[in-house]
Amino acid sequence: MSRLDGRRVLLGVGGGIAAYKAAELVRALRRAGAEVRVVMTASAEEFVQPLTFQALSGHRVGTDLFDPSFEEDIGHIELARWAELVLVAPCTANLLARARAGMADDLLTTILLATTAPVLFCPAMNTQMWKHPAVQENIVVLERRPRSLVLHPDEGELACRETGPGRLPDPDVVLATAERALAGGQLRGKHVVVTAGPTREFFDPVRFLSNPSSGKMGYSLAAAAWSAGADVTLVSGPTSLPAPWGCRVVRVVSASDMRDAVLAERADVLIMAAAVADYTPVERSEHKRKKSDAPWDPALTRTPDILSELAQSPRRAPVVIGFAAETDDIIGNAVRKLESKRLDGIVANSVYGPTGAFGSDASTVTLIRRGGHRHEFGPHPKREVAEHIIEWVASSDFQ
Ligand SMILES: Cc1cc2nc3c(=O)[nH]c(=O)nc-3n(C[C@H](O)[C@H](O)[C@H](O)COP(=O)(O)O)c2cc1C
Repeated sequence: MSRLDGRRVLLGVGGGIAAYKAAELVRALRRAGAEVRVVMTASAEEFVQPLTFQALSGHRVGTDLFDPSFEEDIGHIELARWAELVLVAPCTANLLARARAGMADDLLTTILLATTAPVLFCPAMNTQMWKHPAVQENIVVLERRPRSLVLHPDEGELACRETGPGRLPDPDVVLATAERALAGGQLRGKHVVVTAGPTREFFDPVRFLSNPSSGKMGYSLAAAAWSAGADVTLVSGPTSLPAPWGCRVVRVVSASDMRDAVLAERADVLIMAAAVADYTPVERSEHKRKKSDAPWDPALTRTPDILSELAQSPRRAPVVIGFAAETDDIIGNAVRKLESKRLDGIVANSVYGPTGAFGSDASTVTLIRRGGHRHEFGPHPKREVAEHIIEWVASSDFQ
């Protein structure tokens, strides 16, 4: 379930060319379960009709501070109190300046002063405007304020046909950042390290030993931990997935690379969701091995056991969570792994079936805490399972 589910979001729309994208944001917020009310600046009305937002949000749209009927419906102070999050998207250069100066010369800026909710500014403008020192100064000041966040614009081709920073990020990025702004804070300031994907153990430059892990679960866990307020490092084996927003990604290839990358991090929470290869060739040929009709029986040796090594290490994270993808006796094998590797918790799942561990979009998992408490979750999409696992890790059970 999204952190936005059941939350009250006030969307402030500024008068930029990206105002039309705010309509898609309202839909995405509502799909995530949020209740949405919209306030528009006078300039925003030059770009999109309030009726569009009224139809999409299911509420009358606020446009004028001095509109007696809107005040009677829901006054500006009441609206400021109603909001659990104020999202300003698109936020114009002009709105940034007015917000920074603490002006209250229209409905939206007055609400920005009156609210105690977190405010997420999503600036979008021409690249030269974005780079202007006045705009950059305003960003620095707004980012320093309590409960005030700025989602920096994406780079790309802009409506003015220039290429550079200035685009409003996609709705899923805005929503993930909104979730982070709403996060209760249990993972705020915590460094969460997540491993994901398979590893590859090369025999020669073109052949390797690996497994079918797609990395989806690890990437979803990293995204969910970031949305929950954590600073996230994702140590990823080779996958075709895009980097999750906000996370630092360290790319690795082999189990030995993954070991080095994980041991280099100081984590508060380590979640080992990667499917690390257990065996690696004893010898790696520098040149491509020529094929022949004779059987090939390459010698294999164990890869480093990252979890066991970490369990003994003085640099062990205070919370270490493992994964067990099993074909049989799933719970029994997971509990043995939990105990032998001295983990704090383990996520057990089956390799088989439509919600099997590898490659599928959905998953059914059993979460087992050291000491014995366990519960099952799913089948649900991996993103939801990941959010549930992160909530479990952030719960007082572990912290
Ligand atoms: C066609 C057009 C497109 C504009 N696009 C943007 C924009 O993307 N970002 C921005 O900051 N200002 C943009 N502006 C300028 C703003 O509309 C102007 O600064 C206005 O005063 C903003 O008012 P507001 O901040 O109250 O919404 C644009 C103006 C025009 C005429």
